[in-house]
Amino acid sequence: MERTLVLLKPDAVQRGLIGTIINRLELRGLRLVGAKFVAVDQTLAERHYAIHKGKPFYEGLIQYITSSPVMAMVWEGPQAIAAVRQTMGATRPIEASPGSVRHDFGLEVGRNLTHASDGPETADEEIALWFQPDEIVSWSRDTDRWIFEG
Ligand code: RTP
Ligand code: MG
Repeated sequence: MERTLVLLKPDAVQRGLIGTIINRLELRGLRLVGAKFVAVDQTLAERHYAIHKGKPFYEGLIQYITSSPVMAMVWEGPQAIAAVRQTMGATRPIEASPGSVRHDFGLEVGRNLTHASDGPETADEEIALWFQPDEIVSWSRDTDRWIFEG
């Protein structure tokens, strides 16, 4: 079972889309194992987006993510990293598939609503950055056997 970090960015929170986006992940069958509402400070923002430091959009990205609270979550499931990125859609909303969150609710890359880890190593690093180990709740759902084959 794979785990991935999901952030509902300030625009998603301000626009009242927390419930809608969580609902899509729940309906997909993914299992929530961690959640918290966070006012992101400069240090956390810079650590989270360290890989983008020096890029033209970096300063705007830091401003965006620190501008208002975010909803940080850990979701798990088989191939959860790929599944969540598919549900969120391409980075640029204009290129995102219809039915994806970024297509259905977004227009601009700098207001693309969500973050999702892009691979197993970044997922591990990002989960450790945003969550203490005791903030992750391992549990089983009564519906798991109707969603997970194994
Ligand atoms: P994310 O990390 O947020 O899940 O998105 P991603 O993998 O699809 O995109 P990534 O390349 O990691 O970029 C991180 C975030 O930076 C902003 N961005 N702006 N103006 C631009 O050209 C540009 N490119 C990226 C977006 O908010 C993107 O989600
Ligand atoms: Mg990324």
